[in-house]
Amino acid sequence: MAEQDHSGTQSFHWNIRQSAAVDVPRLKELGVAGWETTYAEFVRPENRALYLDGAFWSLAQLERIVRDPASLALVADDGTGLVSGFLTVEPIPDNRVELTRFYVDPTLRRSGIGSALFSAALDQSRTTGARSMLVNVFADNLVGRSFYERAGFQLTSLEPTIVGDQAVGDAWYELDLHRRDARSDTRSDLEP
Ligand SMILES: CC(C)(COP(=O)(O)OP(=O)(O)OC[C@H]1O[C@@H](n2cnc3c(N)ncnc32)[C@H](O)[C@@H]1OP(=O)(O)O)[C@@H](O)C(=O)NCCC(=O)NCCS
Repeated sequence: MAEQDHSGTQSFHWNIRQSAAVDVPRLKELGVAGWETTYAEFVRPENRALYLDGAFWSLAQLERIVRDPASLALVADDGTGLVSGFLTVEPIPDNRVELTRFYVDPTLRRSGIGSALFSAALDQSRTTGARSMLVNVFADNLVGRSFYERAGFQLTSLEPTIVGDQAVGDAWYELDLHRRDARSDTRSDLEP
């Protein structure tokens, strides 16, 4: 269990735990909220709707990942069962893993939930012996990109991709999980 008390205008307490099938509708809700806030700046509404209705965000696919022992699905809950954020990590070839979803409730962002989830995911991914973690993020998602860059991810490629009928940029990053300076905490208040 991870718990953090953020000393800002509000205090937040949450636990990081493995996701369960009962969380799946909430995971979808958090994904939709992320697409409808952050991604609304660069993905058109009809294309957001198309993607959110597709296989990647289907309840069946989310449930498959939550139940898959080879994948990791972590949630932050506030102790009452309310899930404030989640991430998924899936195995990919060549002894690597991919961070495939990472979303925090828009009303609770910037309070350390993302960092706590990410730190737990790094720890657990290392214990599986995976050598590196990949992530792809929309090139225009500057908050997402800076989060990964602070964590030590290296940009490996910038390439176009298609969402619905529009072209967007995709930034691919990779983090060597066993590099000594890989950071599990991306909060600036904890910077040396
Ligand atoms: C990326 C995301 C998961 C981060 O979650 P979070 O709970 O807000 O992250 P934290 O509070 O732990 O923030 C960690 C650090 O990230 C950076 N950061 C987070 N949000 C930021 C923002 N809006 N502007 C600038 N920097 C930001 C900061 O350095 C922050 O540390 P600080 O608050 O001490 O300065 C969240 O912004 C989110 O859900 N975004 C939409 C979906 C997305 O972009 N996912 C990632 C790409 S797949």
